[in-house]
Amino acid sequence: MLRKAVLAAIRSRQGQWVSGEALSQELGVSRTSVWKIIKSLQGEGYVIETSPKKGYLLSEIPDILSAAEVKSGLQTELFGREHFYYFADIDSTNNYAKKLAAQDYPEGTLVIAETQSAGRGRRGRTWDSKPGQGIYMSLILRPSLPLNELSRITLFIAVAIADTLRNHLGLKPGIKWPNDLLIEGRKISGILTEAVTDMDGIEFIITGIGLNVNQLKEDFPEDFRHTATSVRAEMGHNVSRIPLLQDLLLQLEKRYQQLLSGGFADILDNVRELSTVIGKDIKMDSINGVSQARAIDIDNNGFLMVRDAMGNIHHLMSGEVFLHNPPDEG
Ligand code: BTN
Repeated sequence: MLRKAVLAAIRSRQGQWVSGEALSQELGVSRTSVWKIIKSLQGEGYVIETSPKKGYLLSEIPDILSAAEVKSGLQTELFGREHFYYFADIDSTNNYAKKLAAQDYPEGTLVIAETQSAGRGRRGRTWDSKPGQGIYMSLILRPSLPLNELSRITLFIAVAIADTLRNHLGLKPGIKWPNDLLIEGRKISGILTEAVTDMDGIEFIITGIGLNVNQLKEDFPEDFRHTATSVRAEMGHNVSRIPLLQDLLLQLEKRYQQLLSGGFADILDNVRELSTVIGKDIKMDSINGVSQARAIDIDNNGFLMVRDAMGNIHHLMSGEVFLHNPPDEG
């Protein structure tokens, strides 16, 4: 906890010198202890100037998504507030969040990592999670929803990510039902919603979000280079992930409250408005197998309505849509 106290003390005087003596008195520890913490903060990327006469001056905060950095300025009431687990490296934030949820950790518990060694995508795919480039996070949710309303979760999350990208950065993402956010056909974010159920319905939900932020095109694995994008690739410059994550958590919380207070119809309006699939001929991989169809609408439950070659209409609760026109090379 001394690390937290030293960081808070130099943070509150960012850009100003503070002597080792003043810090040691303020925190009730030796100057050597303060110095050791400063060394370790420098190792984490905090730029702290040191002078034998003047002491320490914090001049730059690294763009790491640690609890201390993200919580300072976080405007949520619940999401990421009390239970915030940050890892420099983990297998998968969804796996860890699932363990916490099984131990009764509450709604709003957040797990976040700089890198994942086994980041998971839908349908057994991997999620490329290089250090420091993206946002890799999982939230525990405990809504009282019947199982057949589970897809509402992925949809409200998709809308909240779209809100964030639009309001925070001016980007214009579309939603490829049910869980992808695309910019001009390239994927910028994906959602992996996993539910643990019991006889009464949903026990808890882990919703994992991967958002590509500072990747260059060449940072993506070759297979995805053509179909993936990032905030940086779209905007032409790096962006700081800390305020982006703070805003994302806030938008997620707002949309979740909207969902819980009966506002799913409004969420759906947004999904329809941003949909990249409605009106398109698609290939569909669902529990009914792979089929060609035309996506015609999203129904009031959030299910995708498709018309098959025979003219029959199907309402699909989940599945994967393949659009026929992939993005242009370039
Ligand atoms: C997809 O598009 O297939 C979903 C990708 C979800 C990736 C995120 S990254 C954080 C969380 N932890 C994981 O292992 N996966 C999700």
